Amino acid sequence: MRENFGSKIGAVLAAAGSAVGLGNIWRFPIETGRNGGAAFILIYIGCIFLIGLPVMLSEFVIGRSSQANTAGAYRKLAPGTQWKWVGRLGVFTGFVIMSYYVVVAGWTIQYAWLALTNQFAGKTAEDFPVIFSQFASNPWQPIVCLVIFVWLTHYVVVKGVTRGIERWSKVLMPMLFILVMGLVIGAVSMPGAKAGISFLLQPDFSKVNGGVVLNAMGQAFYSLSLGMGCLCTYASYFNRQTSLARTALNVCVIDTLIALMAGFIIFPAASAAGYHLQSGDIGASLLFITLPNVFQQAFAHLPLLSYVFSLLFYLLVILAALTSTISLHEVVTSYMTEEFGFRRSRAALVETVTCMLLGCICSLSFGPLQNHKLAGMTIFDLFDWTSSNLLLPIGGMFISIFVGWYLKRELVKGELTNNGTLRVRGLRVLIFILRFVAPLAILGIFLNQLHLF
Ligand code: TRP
Repeated sequence: MRENFGSKIGAVLAAAGSAVGLGNIWRFPIETGRNGGAAFILIYIGCIFLIGLPVMLSEFVIGRSSQANTAGAYRKLAPGTQWKWVGRLGVFTGFVIMSYYVVVAGWTIQYAWLALTNQFAGKTAEDFPVIFSQFASNPWQPIVCLVIFVWLTHYVVVKGVTRGIERWSKVLMPMLFILVMGLVIGAVSMPGAKAGISFLLQPDFSKVNGGVVLNAMGQAFYSLSLGMGCLCTYASYFNRQTSLARTALNVCVIDTLIALMAGFIIFPAASAAGYHLQSGDIGASLLFITLPNVFQQAFAHLPLLSYVFSLLFYLLVILAALTSTISLHEVVTSYMTEEFGFRRSRAALVETVTCMLLGCICSLSFGPLQNHKLAGMTIFDLFDWTSSNLLLPIGGMFISIFVGWYLKRELVKGELTNNGTLRVRGLRVLIFILRFVAPLAILGIFLNQLHLF
C-alpha cells in the first residue's frame, strides 16, 4: 500500500514546509527591495491568490487523483500521450534545483556555526564581504557544509512519508514559526526600525511597471514550489478526506505570512543599522554579507543580543531550507521507487549521491571552477537560471493546461469536492483561470525573463 500523510495538519505542514524556504527568507526580501517595497508586496499577494492558488490546486488534483509520483501521474491520467514528458521534466527540474539549492543551504550551516561560535563579534561592514568570499571560494569548506545538508535531507526522506516527512514537518514547522515570531518582535522593536516598517507598509505605485508585476509572479511561483510536481508528489500522499481547496489555501496563507514576516525582520533591522532601503542596499548578498553586519550594527551596544539574534536567524534559515530540500528530494526518490522499482533506501541514496556530486560542481563554481563558463554563466548560475527561468515556467504552464483543458471536468470536480461530500464554490472561475489566465501569465513571465519584452 502507498504511504499516506496520517493527518490533515501533517499534510498542510509538509506542503507548507516545501513552500517556505530560501525563497521566502532570501529571495523575497531581495525582490521586495528591488521592486520598491509595499507596492510590490500587494501585487505579489495578488499573484499568490489569483494564479498561484489555482496552479497549486492543479498540482493537488493531479497528485491525489493519480496516487503516483509526478511522472507516473501523467502516465496514469493520460496514458499513451506525450504528457508523460511534463512529469519527467519535473523530475529533471527537481535534480537541477536541488543541486544548487543545497549549496546555498550549506552556506547557512557555516553561518549558523560562525554565529554559534561568536565569530561575527566585533566585525565591521568591511569584514563581511571578505568573510563571505573567502568562505564561498574555498574548495572544501562549503562542500563539507553541503554534504551535511544533503545528509540531513536524506535522513528524513529515507524514513518514509509518515515517519520521515510528516513527522519532521510537524516538528520543524512550529519551531520555524516560533523563531520567526521572536525575530520579528526583536527587529521591529529596535530603535530606528521605523523606516524599515514604513518601507513595507506605504506603497509607492509610481515604481510599478510590467516588469514589477512579472517579477512578483515569478517570485510567487518559486515561493509556492510550483511548476515541477513537488506539491503534486505531496498531494499523492494526501488521504481521501483531505480538502484540497482548504489545504491549498492554508499553504498559500502560511507561505505569504512567513515571507512577510521575513520582510519584517530584515527591513526594520536593516534600517536600524543605518541602511538606505530605497537605494538598493539590500542586494543578492543579503543573507551572507548584509545581514550579519546588520545584526552586529543594530545591537552595537548589546553584543549578547547580536549573538542571540544572529544564531536564531541562521537556525531559522536552516529549518526553512531543510523542509524544502526534503520535498525536492522526495520528487526524485518517489519517481525512482515507483517507476523503476528501487527500494526506497536505494532510490534515496541515488538521489543523495547524485546531488552531492552536482552540488560540489555548483559549489566549486565560486572558487576553482569560477572561470568555467557556459553561455556566460558559471555552473551555479546556469543551474539557477535554467530552472527558475526556463524549466519551472514551462512546467507550470503545462500543468495548468493539463488540468484546464485535458482532464475531464468531472474528475477535477470530484477531487475538489471529495466526490461530492464537500461544497466547493468557484469551480468555473478556477477552470477559466487554468485555461486562459494562468498559461498566458506564465508565458508572460517566461518571455520577460528571457528579456524578450
Ligand atoms: N519554495 C521553496 C522556497 O521558497 C523552494 C522550492 C522547493 C521550490 N521546491 C520547489 C521551488 C519546487 C520551485 C519548485 O525556497
